[in-house]
Amino acid sequence: MADVSAQMVVRRMRFPYPESASGHWNPARPEFSHIVNAASLSMPFLEPYLIDTMRKAKERITDPQLLKDVDLYIAQEATHFRQHQQWNKRLADMGYKSVPKHEAQLKEDYDAFAKSRSFTFNIAYAEGFEAMGLTVGHMLVEDREYLMGNADPAVASLVLWHFVEEIEHKTVTFDVFKALDGRYWWRIYGLAYATTHIFFRTWQAYRQLLIEDGRWSSLKNRLTLYGLLARMFRKLLPRLARILKPSYDPRQVEDPPWVKQWWRMHREGTAGMGEIDTTRLSAPAPVPLPIQRAA
Ligand SMILES: [Fe+2]
Ligand SMILES: [Fe+2]
Repeated sequence: MADVSAQMVVRRMRFPYPESASGHWNPARPEFSHIVNAASLSMPFLEPYLIDTMRKAKERITDPQLLKDVDLYIAQEATHFRQHQQWNKRLADMGYKSVPKHEAQLKEDYDAFAKSRSFTFNIAYAEGFEAMGLTVGHMLVEDREYLMGNADPAVASLVLWHFVEEIEHKTVTFDVFKALDGRYWWRIYGLAYATTHIFFRTWQAYRQLLIEDGRWSSLKNRLTLYGLLARMFRKLLPRLARILKPSYDPRQVEDPPWVKQWWRMHREGTAGMGEIDTTRLSAPAPVPLPIQRAA
């Protein structure tokens, strides 16, 4: 049987954010909501940079299968950042004043990487980010009920869909890096650089969002945030450590059953994948909410 994860699909999704959408899209976990919001702000700058890097890589790739994979990767990443742009615009419209300043910083970072850094740096960054993103995807899916239980279904579904596809295209930048360079220490440097860079920028952004909410100065809120980060890193670190092995290959990372169910349901045409029922996230497969009829 063909490996379902080898069949990348470009999906046109719709996430119906309610008029009353809040930055605290998981009201029980405002700190986690802002970690996700902060990461979301990076996507319209990071993902076009990944696309640009892979377009440059395509000029040097000769393997026809890898060229096909890169095209699908580019198409998936393009849909990701466009969906995040819509949510990020909502955040700006809610009055978060730090959003445009943060976006300007990210644009500057990625323009500089594309313009001034070597081709090897850029493909190593891309693979480093994807390898780290795969660990985040596994952590989010494993801890979905704790992190997103009872949250706004549209935002939770945006996050889960994005990582379902990150898991789906887990091999592409790895294969590109291996085909065009493959040096171990460059791969590790790319992982360390991309992870430090994106975690640092995300930290800056969620700190600002929490300051704007008046939640940064409260000791109780700060302890909640640190407890949450400790929980997330406890799940991430063993997975990140695996990437350090010289023999690392994302093909060895088994896809979570919940993600395989998501793929299967989408392939079978299940409606409502943009609004997964967040009261039933512990189920072994996604449970979409009934489709709302237009008023
Ligand atoms: Fe993505
Ligand atoms: Fe990706």
